[in-house]
Amino acid sequence: MFFERHEGGERAVLVHLDGQDPEVREDPQEFQELALSAGADTVAFISVPRHRPTAKYLIGSGKVEELRDLVKAEQIDLVIFNHTLTPSQERNLERVLECRVLDRTGLILDIFAQRARTHEGKLQVELAQLDHLSSRLVRGWTHLERQGGGIGMRGPGETQLETDRRLLRVRVRQLKSRLKKVRSQREQARRGRQRADIPSVSLVGYTNAGKSTLFNALTNADVFTADQLFATLDPTLRRLQLDDLGPIVLADTVGFIRHLPHKLVEAFRSTLEESSNSALLLHVIDAHEPDRKEQIEQVMAVLGEIGAEEVPLLEVYNKVDLLDAVEPQIQRDGDGKPQRVWLSAQSGQGLELLRQAIAELLGSDLFVGTLCLPQDLARLRAQFFALGAVQSEAHDAEGGSLLALRVPRIELNRLVSREGWQPEEFLAQHTLQ
Ligand code: GTP
Repeated sequence: MFFERHEGGERAVLVHLDGQDPEVREDPQEFQELALSAGADTVAFISVPRHRPTAKYLIGSGKVEELRDLVKAEQIDLVIFNHTLTPSQERNLERVLECRVLDRTGLILDIFAQRARTHEGKLQVELAQLDHLSSRLVRGWTHLERQGGGIGMRGPGETQLETDRRLLRVRVRQLKSRLKKVRSQREQARRGRQRADIPSVSLVGYTNAGKSTLFNALTNADVFTADQLFATLDPTLRRLQLDDLGPIVLADTVGFIRHLPHKLVEAFRSTLEESSNSALLLHVIDAHEPDRKEQIEQVMAVLGEIGAEEVPLLEVYNKVDLLDAVEPQIQRDGDGKPQRVWLSAQSGQGLELLRQAIAELLGSDLFVGTLCLPQDLARLRAQFFALGAVQSEAHDAEGGSLLALRVPRIELNRLVSREGWQPEEFLAQHTLQ
């Protein structure tokens, strides 16, 4: 491996530029979480107000001096910017500050590097890192030199820079050919699943929305979950049995983030493609997050970028346990199709509703009609309401309910027979239309 990994606890200063164009504005809170996820020990957070970017350092030279004093006084190892720096800005800053400088892409790459678990994930991250590094490779304070990556491998008359470039090219070639092999294996596995007609369902969502927790809850698997950004990087696939539908394959995928550097979207294209080949996407949303609207937009933008916007999508509003007065439920669109499920992956409330919504969407055979339920079937009536299956209700002279329903036939049969009725008998007796 060419790259040093942060051992954690590096003393860092975070620099955030405020008051920018909303299109490129970053979130300071998220920045701090990203730095924490990378293992940085944040000593100071500097917010630069009303900023006009400068070519040399991005920030004004007065601020640079202030930073330099701070770096010296606090023995800072690393200064991280919440924005993209050009290679020359990064270099200029490193020269003045005499410590390492990382931009937002570098920071996200570093987290990706620490989190990648599968062989393919690791290869992808390293390739993206090399790409990021190659434009920054010039004589001076470069990453490779500091590690002495070329020691013992230097040819006669070759400068450090030439050696670095040569090593880089060799490594990139190696990585690309390995990735090709891994990808073709994965593609084969996917075709196998398609042949067996097993639908695949992918979890997508903003980082920290709770995808892995939901994945575990649905599959009883033990995927690494953590209150850290990008705890999941590689798609994790599990087979899972849904009542009434049969097996499906569930994929947990990388969390999305605003302004996910384009290079990373490219690097993870094949991982993300798992989503665009799915029969259904579950878009996991943190219902408790004040910024959720923007997060939803960001996820939809990335889905558009990887060509997954046509795949049917079910919104999963997670973490209802943190909300007052929101019950687990299914919300349906005008056609009665499940559109949104509210649940808590952590407590398990509403998981059954999700299973059912998935089964409905993947194997939908709807019953649309009116049932007349006698008063003593109040429990059944409540169940239809909980499913979001009731379109309207009226009452007959005996106090029974006339329920206009839109409900999967499978579900209708299951609920009715649970009350001790034969479905056919019940429907024949009570269907009014
Ligand atoms: P990335 O891997 O970064 O994409 O994150 P993720 O979407 O897989 O999130 P993960 O499952 O790791 O959960 C993030 C945090 O949210 C963890 O601290 C979970 O314990 C917490 N969490 C997940 N689901 C729930 C829930 O239903 N309720 C509450 N209160 N917390 C939850």
